[in-house]
Amino acid sequence: MIFDGAEIVVLAMITLDVLRRRRNMFNTLIRVCKSIPLVAAALLLTVPAWSQEDAATLFKSKCAACHGPDGKAETSMGKALKIRDLGLAAVQSQSDSQLTEIITKGKNKMPAFDGKLTNEQIAGLVTYVRELGKKH
Ligand code: HEC
Repeated sequence: MIFDGAEIVVLAMITLDVLRRRRNMFNTLIRVCKSIPLVAAALLLTVPAWSQEDAATLFKSKCAACHGPDGKAETSMGKALKIRDLGLAAVQSQSDSQLTEIITKGKNKMPAFDGKLTNEQIAGLVTYVRELGKKH
């Protein structure tokens, strides 16, 4: 079969078109691959944000009656029980495990939350108490 000029031009155009489409597909694939770490990073960022929100909600429902919504214990219970502001250096200087122990086992008039909250929830509350310290 012998091609004339016009046929060769058409064939060349088709070949170029196929090549261009392949390149587009390749580019799309690269774009998708590049966005995977972004999606993963977004997920990683939102997961702790959720648990932090959980801790804030828990603090309001389980702790704020005595400690106040801001942890400053400016409540009648807080005053009656002489609770320290959770943001104070004297409170914040305690280790995470000491704070965990107080929340889990209780201390004097501070009720124990062992069995009422999971270890993860208590760990979230310790992080939340640290946040209260930073706002101080
Ligand atoms: C019935 C009131 C009450 C509730 C509810 C309560 N606490 Fe307390 N909390 C206290 C009292 C009283 C103390 C002081 C204990 C002491 O040192 O004698 C205290 C102490 C603490 C401390 C240590 C502060 C310090 O002075 O070293 C932390 C941390 C703490 N509470 C966290 C929490 C968290 C988190 C919750 C909610 C899950 C909670 N508390 C719920 C009464 C309460």
